[in-house]
Order: sequence, then C-alpha cells, then structure tokens
Amino acid sequence: MMEQSGRAIAEARRAERIRQLSERMAEFLGEGGTRVSLEIGCGHGHWLTSLAENSPEERLIGVDLISRRIRLAEAKVAKRDLTNTLFLKAEATETLEAWPETVALKRIFLLHPDPWPKKRHAKNRMTGPAFLDRMAAAASPGCEFYFRTDDAPFFEWSRESLEAHPAWKSVELPWPHEAGSYFKDMLGVHGALTAVRV
Ligand SMILES: C[S@@+](CC[C@H](N)C(=O)[O-])C[C@H]1O[C@@H](n2cnc3c(N)ncnc32)[C@H](O)[C@@H]1O
Repeated sequence: MMEQSGRAIAEARRAERIRQLSERMAEFLGEGGTRVSLEIGCGHGHWLTSLAENSPEERLIGVDLISRRIRLAEAKVAKRDLTNTLFLKAEATETLEAWPETVALKRIFLLHPDPWPKKRHAKNRMTGPAFLDRMAAAASPGCEFYFRTDDAPFFEWSRESLEAHPAWKSVELPWPHEAGSYFKDMLGVHGALTAVRV
C-alpha cells in the first residue's frame, strides 16, 4: 500500500514536470519559426550556442540533467545575448514526451552521449531502440538526426541499432555546424551517424 502510493506520487510529479516543460517550450517556440532543433545532453552548451550564433533564424533548445551544466550554458546565452536559444534542466525522455504537438521538431542532435560500455547497461544507451522510438514519436516527418561519438564500439552498436529501426532511415547528411564541445575537445570524434525520420 505504502509502496503503491509512493509510486503514485512519483508518477504525479513526473506528469507535472512534463506539463511544465511542455508549457515552457511552447511559450519559447511559439509557432516554431523556420527551423526548430533540440540538443539532448547538451552539457555546457558550447556547441549549441555556437550554432545559435551562426543561425539566428533558428530556434534551439538544449537539455541536460545536470543543473550546473545548464547554468553554464545559460551564462553563454546571456553573455552573447542569444534570443533564439533556451536551455532547460530536464531529462531527455521527459523532454521528448513534453514536446509541444503544435511545433514541428526538425533536427535532433545527440553529441557524445554516455556510451554505457557494460553489456548489462546497454538499455541506457540513447541510440537503443527504446530511445529511438521516443525520438521518433516527437519528431516530425523529415526530422534529421545527428549523432557523434568518440567511442568505437558504441559507434558500431549505434549504427546497427539505427539501421534496424523502422522509423529512421540512415542517410548521409552534411554535418550542419562545426564547433567544439567539452567532450569533443577532450576525446575527439570517432564517427558520426545521420538519419531522417521516415
Ligand atoms: C558525455 S556528456 C556530453 C556533453 C556534450 N554533449 C558534449 O559533447 O560535451 C553527456 C551529457 O548527457 C547528459 N545526460 C545523460 N543522460 C541524460 C538524460 N537522460 N537526460 C538529459 N541529459 C542527460 C549528461 O548530464 C551529460 O552532460
């Protein structure tokens, strides 16, 4: 009984977080504008703020679980006076569930996510079928997916996973913007994968 009510409380909190996230994103995005992109696990926001400076017509959202990283990303937004970028401390799956139905999500970036190298942790990998499902549910048809990693085994695993997923068609897309990120600068890039929402 106690355990059940604990679960109910956790679910109610999750639902409330998703409601607030959805409201916040809808308010920022308005009608959406020319192109709307999401970076999942944006870290300190190096890459997304650099993209934002180069693409003032776009609307960009970056999410990360760690508050300090989001605060550093927000400081970059303030310093550069970027009005087209919003950073949120939010969990990736909840963000995708909260994505406003009225706004077409056109690009998703996943740069150097955790590789979760142990086999028993493979379910946590963000290029696995469950997360690809989540992204597909939020993405508009034609939405582009960009992934980069520094980890060779994770790259191969992700390539197979993406190629096997029915909602994503692997296609070669030019990399849209080159800039550093904390993990790219530290570890380099082993490989990139790109795909389009069918
Ligand atoms: C290895 S770092 C890469 C950060 C950045 N993309 C870069 O290239 O420097 C992975 C980031 O994903 C974030 N992250 C991990 N799981 C997450 C989740 N479920 N939702 C949101 N962010 C997540 C972590 O907090 C971390 O900042």
